Amino acid sequence: MQAEQENIWASAESHSHAPNTSNQEQASTQENVVGLGKEEVKKALKPSGLDKLRIEGGAVLKGEIPISGAKNAALKIMCATLLTDQPVTLTNMPVTLNDIKTLAQLLKHIGVSVLARHDKTAVLHARTIETPVAPYDLVRKMRGSILVLGPLLARHGFAEVSLPGGCAIGARPVDFHIKGLEAMGAKILIEDGYIKATTEGGLKGATYTFPKVSHTGTENLMMAATLAKGTTILKNAAREPEVTNLADCLRQMGANITGDGTDTITIEGVESLHGATHAVMPDRIETATWMIGAALTNGSLRLKNANLDHLTALVAPLEKTGVQIEADGNDILVSRSGEKLIGTDIMTDPYPGFPTDIQAQFLTMLTLCEGAGMVTETIFENRFMHVPELCRMGADITIQGNSAIVRGVEKLKGAEVMATDLRASASLVLAALVAEGTTTINRIYHLDRGYEDIVGKLGNVGAKIERV
Ligand code: UD1
Repeated sequence: MQAEQENIWASAESHSHAPNTSNQEQASTQENVVGLGKEEVKKALKPSGLDKLRIEGGAVLKGEIPISGAKNAALKIMCATLLTDQPVTLTNMPVTLNDIKTLAQLLKHIGVSVLARHDKTAVLHARTIETPVAPYDLVRKMRGSILVLGPLLARHGFAEVSLPGGCAIGARPVDFHIKGLEAMGAKILIEDGYIKATTEGGLKGATYTFPKVSHTGTENLMMAATLAKGTTILKNAAREPEVTNLADCLRQMGANITGDGTDTITIEGVESLHGATHAVMPDRIETATWMIGAALTNGSLRLKNANLDHLTALVAPLEKTGVQIEADGNDILVSRSGEKLIGTDIMTDPYPGFPTDIQAQFLTMLTLCEGAGMVTETIFENRFMHVPELCRMGADITIQGNSAIVRGVEKLKGAEVMATDLRASASLVLAALVAEGTTTINRIYHLDRGYEDIVGKLGNVGAKIERV
């Protein structure tokens, strides 16, 4: 309970720009950034602000950027803490991201005590499950909330989770999550926009083959299976490093999982899980975004605490365009020699293929390459929303079906543009860094969901960027 009293998220609720806090408030925010009372749930539901980013183009990015812990690993690992009544300590947590704060709100609502510190450590303790419900207002803010379904059902035998609905990049159904849990013996009703799931006598191990590779589907079922009776085999499973990072955490908690990182994952259910300490992996999408930033601006960056092994699908086409990339221990060095970049083609695919979450940023780079490049999106049906905005900045892009043909132009020009989703927003930031003149990016709450301290990190390596 001590931890709860120390929780003071209210003063750290705003986004990565520093609010005007008194010295006393600043001192207290040093300790915890995620305070999670009922009042904060209300605050979390308020619009995230209408901040804009103003970027003056033309800077060459040079220096070091520390890479944050991966949002897409941290979210799932936070949900995994629902599987035990003991505390779980997580390090390298991207504690200031809005998606992370939203999930912390949801976990608090469920009954988890949550403490997060500025040293990027979080302690989550699901001593009891008080309210096994994920309400619409929190799920609509963050689709990843669907990942409480598997753990709640496995531990508590009952869960009600709002259906996430579609989002800007596509319909994004969750039918595989539901069918997989049904295969494990869950009874599931869809009623009033909610998934209402129960089990009689607990989940049972089963074999489930995903009709199509699903990243979060794999994670939801893998978590559920840790406490099921018997063996679960997930076939055509996602192979993303985030799945392995989650499996590592679950193993630390006592789960029996093998095969993660391949397309067949086997989980032997155990009686109960226990507390653990686990480090969140580096964010490979943030890493990729700044690698492309170095390439685009003719710069040279050292990306600290990153993992190049997770980015082989990006390294090959980046090197083909003319970028130099090198691993140095836990750092990645990226530079461009000054030569013009050459256009090349990419196609998104489940890991280890080219990540859909890097498609928009790569496309931005192609706008200034010599020749042309084609970007084909195979994961989501509506993921070219950054294209009209880039065209307003002078890019030459034609969309044909699920491909975009990008013909290199001499320069981009600053404009007022609109961020539409998380990665599209990152692509506009990259475009603004090289565009002639000033670009104002509206609706940057998308960026605050997934990029920690973007103004500070880019400002430190030479970008002229401010939040207005
Ligand atoms: C996750 C990532 C997201 C990334 C995506 C693909 C998180 C929080 N999100 O999203 O950043 O872009 O993987 O790597 O980690 N599908 C179904 N039914 C389902 C589930 C998925 O039809 O039940 C379809 C989707 O519509 C999509 C494809 O399968 O076309 C892949 O989706 P999936 O891998 O599940 O994406 P997310 O887990 O939503």
